[in-house]
Amino acid sequence: MHNLARPLKVVAFNGSPHKKGNTYKLVQKMFEVFHSKGIKTELVTIGNKTISGCRDCGTCSKKKLECVIKKDIINSSIKKILNADGVILASPTHFAGPSGAMKCFIDRVGYVNHASRDKDYNGFLYRKVCSSIAVHRRGGATNAHSQMNYLWSISGSIVPGSTYWNFGVGHRGVDVITDEEGLANMENLAHQMSDLMIMIKEDKLKKENK
Ligand SMILES: Cc1cc2nc3c(=O)[nH]c(=O)nc-3n(C[C@H](O)[C@H](O)[C@H](O)COP(=O)(O)O)c2cc1C
Repeated sequence: MHNLARPLKVVAFNGSPHKKGNTYKLVQKMFEVFHSKGIKTELVTIGNKTISGCRDCGTCSKKKLECVIKKDIINSSIKKILNADGVILASPTHFAGPSGAMKCFIDRVGYVNHASRDKDYNGFLYRKVCSSIAVHRRGGATNAHSQMNYLWSISGSIVPGSTYWNFGVGHRGVDVITDEEGLANMENLAHQMSDLMIMIKEDKLKKENK
């Protein structure tokens, strides 16, 4: 159990149209580990919602931390990320990439983050502990996982490794729960994220108290 001033928090975004399908099960596996360490969690299902693509209007460079498109969940998701220590992108594999909703999410959140950066501010994804996880029936999950990771690697996020690439194998319902190796990988990944979040927080507190 960590003992820091404010409890740590992880927010996960699920790009599946199924609120409680295979992707959800992988996220839950990670959440079990976070809960055992007193880390708070929040899951936001984005795959069953309409999310517009980026308009490339450039308004986010003036508005700072906000997208001009207000009718979907992007701005509320940005607020959730701002208050989190760790962020997870989770998606089923759709045609060897993340779901369409997840792609729109990455384009919009990523661009707002990018536009917010200046010489005094590194963006809201900087030094947050971030992971991407995927599920597939047969092929393409490594690509979906890599594509989601591109958001982290351009944003100064801290991305832990696990014991395999972060995906599970499943097709219908919640059959990913029979993929023991996939589930063990999620557990390890959550331990890695937890350790990093705690280290980063302790370091911050040490610097503040100097
Ligand atoms: C539009 C669409 C495209 C898909 N493309 C792939 C694919 O490229 N490779 C694959 O192995 N499975 C593919 N699948 C299967 C899903 O990845 C798989 O059923 C997954 O377990 C669904 O997870 P969920 O229950 O979280 O939605 C596809 C499914 C859909 C609906």
